[in-house]
Amino acid sequence: MNDSYAADDEATQTRAIAVVNHKGGVGKTTTAINLGAWLALEGHSVLVVDLDPQANATTGLGVDPRRVSSSIYQILVNSSPIEDAIEPTAVRNLFCVPSTIDLAGAEIELVTAFSRELRLRKALDTLEDEFDVVLIDCPPSLGLLTVNSLAAATEVIVPIQCEYYALEGLGQLLKNINLIQTNLNPDLRLCGIVLTMYDARTRLSEQVANEVRAHFPGKVFGTVIPRSVRLSEAPSFGQPVALYDPRSRGSIAYRSLAAEVAEADADDTLAGAPAEPEGAGDEAVARVRWR
Ligand SMILES: Nc1ncnc2c1ncn2[C@@H]1O[C@H](COP(=O)(O)OP(=O)(O)OP(=O)(O)O)[C@@H](O)[C@H]1O
Ligand SMILES: [Mg+2]
Repeated sequence: MNDSYAADDEATQTRAIAVVNHKGGVGKTTTAINLGAWLALEGHSVLVVDLDPQANATTGLGVDPRRVSSSIYQILVNSSPIEDAIEPTAVRNLFCVPSTIDLAGAEIELVTAFSRELRLRKALDTLEDEFDVVLIDCPPSLGLLTVNSLAAATEVIVPIQCEYYALEGLGQLLKNINLIQTNLNPDLRLCGIVLTMYDARTRLSEQVANEVRAHFPGKVFGTVIPRSVRLSEAPSFGQPVALYDPRSRGSIAYRSLAAEVAEADADDTLAGAPAEPEGAGDEAVARVRWR
């Protein structure tokens, strides 16, 4: 597929957004799929890159990892062309680079490889702004795959689950983002933090949301993703929630998040000055270059 995927005629610079949190099950994949779907439905040309051997973004977008001709593994390990791995999805303007279980061995296979942390960036560079937005769904670790995503990205979105220990380990993640900014990718910016699985019936959700907003003023998206059964059901039908149940609360929330993300590009800020989180006690947090 060599025709341009760009939704409009004017080529704009691709935003490559890594969806990162090394904590498992916080809503990274759900965010990559559903934010991607709504951005696509709103007219942006979107590529979701599945960088997780679990291949949840792949299957959640209706792509069968056993039937793909190429995958992110071939791209990273064999330097195969990314164009060969791009699969269409049920949503117009939304494409996927699938993952397969082979990817589980990639971190070890790449140990001795030349410029192993820049493999994804090189692959995305060959797309030459064909997509408006590339969303990279990261695995729950801070290993080489996540380093590849941070080296290739222009921005980071961090989903935080509204649960106990929500902020635990966040300092480590921000420290790593800072290291990548210093050593590999000085242009990397934090697009924002998104609160996920918010349960309005519990005080805990509210407390966690307040705590995160207090630590990161101006850096948390106004949209909060509610806990919604429809969101958890949709992947088993290989569909984003925007197709599975467009009027559900989860779908409406991701549509609103997509609007905020699109807007964040326009005015380059998430309402507020960069801030050092109060009482976070972690210098790394302060060193990270926010938008
Ligand atoms: N807002 C939500 N409401 C209800 N269920 C959700 C919501 N967001 C995610 N889930 C469910 O929670 C589980 C974990 O979500 P998801 O797979 O998106 O997290 P993840 O961070 O990608 O996990 P991993 O670290 O394993 O890759 C999934 O079963 C998903 O369907
Ligand atoms: Mg995931």
